[in-house]
Amino acid sequence: MDRFVINGGAALSGEVPTGGSKNAALPALAAALLTEEPVTLNRIPHVRDIRTMQRLLVDIGAKIDADGETVRLSTPEIVCPEAPYELVKTMRASSLVLGPLVARSGRARVSLPGGCAIGARPINLHISGLEQLGARISQAHGYIEAEAPEGLHGATVQFDRITVTGTEDLMMAAALAKGETILHNAAREPEVADLAELLIAMGARIEGAGTSTIRIEGVDKLGGADHTIIPDRIEAGTFLIAGAITSGDLTVTGCEPEHLGALVSKLQQTGVDVTQPGATTLRVRGGSTLRSADMTTEEYPGFATDLQAQYMALMTQAEGIALIVETIFENRFMHALELARMGANIRLDGKQAIVAGPRELTGAGVIASDLRASASLVLAALVARGETVIDRVYHIDRGYERIEAKLARVGAKIQRLE
Ligand code: EPZ
Repeated sequence: MDRFVINGGAALSGEVPTGGSKNAALPALAAALLTEEPVTLNRIPHVRDIRTMQRLLVDIGAKIDADGETVRLSTPEIVCPEAPYELVKTMRASSLVLGPLVARSGRARVSLPGGCAIGARPINLHISGLEQLGARISQAHGYIEAEAPEGLHGATVQFDRITVTGTEDLMMAAALAKGETILHNAAREPEVADLAELLIAMGARIEGAGTSTIRIEGVDKLGGADHTIIPDRIEAGTFLIAGAITSGDLTVTGCEPEHLGALVSKLQQTGVDVTQPGATTLRVRGGSTLRSADMTTEEYPGFATDLQAQYMALMTQAEGIALIVETIFENRFMHALELARMGANIRLDGKQAIVAGPRELTGAGVIASDLRASASLVLAALVARGETVIDRVYHIDRGYERIEAKLARVGAKIQRLE
């Protein structure tokens, strides 16, 4: 298993590029199942979760041809409307094929995802939504069986709580359902709006994506499209925090500043200088004194839960006490225990973490438990005295494309041991 060896102390400086968004690419790839025509997707990141999704789509019947960051898919026929446990257990987002499969072929067999390091993460809202669109759903042997031989029909769906992939799954299913579907309390994440843009380019009739009420007028057939997905706001946010925590001078290029509003204003509250030199660039310059600032994770446009771990690492270096409240997932503080091994002062209390700083961090052997936790350990290691060895970096490869190469180019002393 690969590991990272990091020697801390270098202030990062220069330019770091942002890749395509993993969480926009995954539903976009699944959306290609909705049509027999070719779909071309650009700026697809080379990360492990994307490879897992492509393997799943090929098993289902898609023909895929990848060239650099461009992926061309065509699914003339749904050969096997199934997402097997072997794949779903490695990547929960596999459940994004459920809606497209039922809508396109009237049938789907998808493994239930099971537990996850950061929380229970059930998909009951995906299931109840599809039932309201007319699918008959049963569960056996760890699988969901969904059927709609006469096709799906429009319905008004009120989500009990905001769900990103739940909104995406229902939006894709409703695109081919008879009549109108209205999704209330829908997710407003930029990845949802980007998926809607792709579906509209394929011929879908969708209004209100990016707001909490989405209207979809179903059509009989969808066509092909050529779509460039949005930049990865979580990768860009991780780099902004890397620049701040090392008191460096880092320019993150190719990002969408508007998608990072909550993080930018939080960083400014802590005394970090964040400017926008261009339409797709953000520059961060670490201030002299980093001040602590409380933060509560929220659905978009609030502070992203996928940046909580990285922000916690930053707060270990800030003057004062920071209260961090995680409202989205019930078990997303695994990184705190590893940060404490490096010398951080963090007290956990249910959904709350109290971080007292600044504390000098020292290099240590630590273990990554999930994708964003591993990013937070990399950030902490960049400021720790001495050497840190991070185990199980396969977690970070799920969502960051060669992060060690990008960080090394701006001065980080980081190596991957294969
Ligand atoms: C998406 O996950 C992202 N993944 C996650 O990013 C991200 O953390 C999350 O949204 C929140 O922003 C992808 O887009 C592939 P949710 P998703 O459904 O859709 C509960 C990363 O690091 N819930 O919005 O699975 C759920 O348990 C990943 O890149 C139900 O109870 O998250 C959670 O507490 C991690 N029933 C809350 O809602 C459901 O049917 C929000 O989950 C669905 C969700």
